[in-house]
Amino acid sequence: MKTLTLTKPDDWHLHVRDGEQMRAALPHTARQFARAIIMPNLRPPVVSVAMALSYRDRILAALATAAQQYTFEPLMTLYLTDHTSPQEIIRAKESGKIHAVKLYPAGATTNSDAGVTDLAKCYSTLATMEKIDFPLLVHGEVTDPDVDVFDREGIFIDQVLTPMIRQFPALRIVFEHITTRDAVSFVQESSHPIAATITAHHLLLNRNAIFQGGINPHHYCLPVLKRETHRQALVEAAISGNPKFFLGTDSAPHAQTAKENACGCAGIFTAHAALELYTSVFEQAGALDRLEAFASFHGADFYRLPRNQEQIVLRKENWSVPEQFEYAGDNLIPFRANTTLTWRMT
Ligand code: DOR
Ligand code: ZN
Repeated sequence: MKTLTLTKPDDWHLHVRDGEQMRAALPHTARQFARAIIMPNLRPPVVSVAMALSYRDRILAALATAAQQYTFEPLMTLYLTDHTSPQEIIRAKESGKIHAVKLYPAGATTNSDAGVTDLAKCYSTLATMEKIDFPLLVHGEVTDPDVDVFDREGIFIDQVLTPMIRQFPALRIVFEHITTRDAVSFVQESSHPIAATITAHHLLLNRNAIFQGGINPHHYCLPVLKRETHRQALVEAAISGNPKFFLGTDSAPHAQTAKENACGCAGIFTAHAALELYTSVFEQAGALDRLEAFASFHGADFYRLPRNQEQIVLRKENWSVPEQFEYAGDNLIPFRANTTLTWRMT
């Protein structure tokens, strides 16, 4: 039987929610990954060190009472607002438990209303981050409602990211969940300390998947899926061996009732099979030998954290993804629900 042994991977971009929803979502990630960068877009958002540390405590408490025991470390982030102070950034770094600051342009996605309205308001904070070498994670989409939703990433590169890296040439940046050939080229060609995460769903699907056989809310996420040529560019980047590209699922659980709704939420839940999904992409591209670096080395190196020591094993084996999971009194519809996957983590 074909097996694949890898250094235990990390998820460098995860939404795991809070409360009962967090207790339902977290085990899926803790089973597969040693660590994850925890996104701060809660309601209210995680805007202070105190909030991030208390969120971390809630995650650790949930792990301690979970049905199974996991060794999993949540890597916390702060949600950048127009009012985040340089002092708060310094305290975040000193905590040793907060690893980055997340920039959501206000209105770009789920719970981003409190995000940044004008980057100029954050200049002293960004300058401090640059000085103390604290990474900025960006949701790279402009929010101007007049900009076509499929063009928002490309325009963000020109209007926001390019000026930002000129202004802060040493600021370490992760361009999160990139979705376009433009973003791939930008990251590849930039001499700036910039890396990018790539999700499993953007590697597997193009935008046709949103409309196949009728509108499918479970394939709606932000940034929205793009054309096939962009998907191909993402696969090329992921399998390239370039350390600027690494795994970040952007697994984003929403209750079935919030997804299958006249105004459905953005977000695709992939944590139940994240590694298996990435493995199938690398297998199809004939690049299984590059999976470990993408999943387990590049992200840790970029964040200057030690690589994991433990190993995990994936086996070539068919299994069916459940139709749904329990989710705080509602259902959670997983990516590829009711279909057969061909790799399984043992
Ligand atoms: O699809 C998404 N869902 N994209 C995001 O940026 C946020 C996320 C969420 O929190 O649901
Ligand atoms: Zn996200």
